[in-house]
Amino acid sequence: MDLQLTGRAALVTGASSGIGAGVARVLAGEGVRLALTARDVDGLRDLADELRAAGHPEPVVLEGDLTDHEQIIRVAAQAHAALGSIHILANCAGGSRPTDFQSDETVWEEAFALNFASARRLTQLLLPGMLAHRWGRVINISGSMEPRRLNAASAAKGALHLWSKGLSCDVASEGITVNCIAPGRIRSAQTLARLHATEAERQEFIARNIPAGDFGDPEDIGRVAAFLASPLAHYVTGAVIPVDGGMHYFAH
Ligand SMILES: NC(=O)c1ccc[n+]([C@@H]2O[C@H](COP(=O)([O-])OP(=O)(O)OC[C@H]3O[C@@H](n4cnc5c(N)ncnc54)[C@H](OP(=O)(O)O)[C@@H]3O)[C@@H](O)[C@H]2O)c1
Repeated sequence: MDLQLTGRAALVTGASSGIGAGVARVLAGEGVRLALTARDVDGLRDLADELRAAGHPEPVVLEGDLTDHEQIIRVAAQAHAALGSIHILANCAGGSRPTDFQSDETVWEEAFALNFASARRLTQLLLPGMLAHRWGRVINISGSMEPRRLNAASAAKGALHLWSKGLSCDVASEGITVNCIAPGRIRSAQTLARLHATEAERQEFIARNIPAGDFGDPEDIGRVAAFLASPLAHYVTGAVIPVDGGMHYFAH
């Protein structure tokens, strides 16, 4: 299936590792011109080198801390200056923030800044360009809606879901779709190091929770993101799509 993405321009956040890098790899394979952002410039440069060596268009590397509003404004402006209008925004930056009910305000502020406000702010900055062309795609990487303990990131991802759904209604008639992908357990630095330190723990979790029998790969998210980014997905909007090997069936 030709996803008709050749020559489109995308900004991918959280592209220095894990899911963001997987989304970038799949989009690059479809001929999308990329701006990659995160704080770890070396990680971004390694990915850019890999994509160039594979014969894909040279990505633009943009360092930025997306919890800082000024840096968000700069990243959006640099992406626009380098690629022209941004057609596709993949908001992949984020991270789990387990906490307790007494935690300091700063924990909640940082979790919401990273997991919700960064996506909302970048979208606000790039939407005018999408509206001018009457075409755009916003893809937000969210998370589970069935937390098993207090996690400030889960609350922020919940906000991301409802903001996406509301916005999708407002811009649907303008050729712009807004969707979320809710990953289950995807192999990334975050899941392997923080959640499942040993192989035995990982296998035990899989046996209890994942009908598909394994963690997913970042590219499993990337392929769904590429479909949502394509013109073929014009009738899919306001959706929250689980990509989790069936794990959500066991969430209750
Ligand atoms: N992997 C899973 O199983 C899973 C499950 C549910 C949801 N998710 C969600 O999927 C997304 C990607 O996670 P991942 O598992 O791929 O983790 P990851 O490998 O740790 O990637 C997180 C990305 O976010 C970037 N990031 C973190 N803090 C940032 C900041 N302040 N400013 C800019 N960028 C920042 C990181 O880059 P730098 O550190 O270089 O800045 C990195 O590129 C997250 O939103 C996460 O919540 C993942």
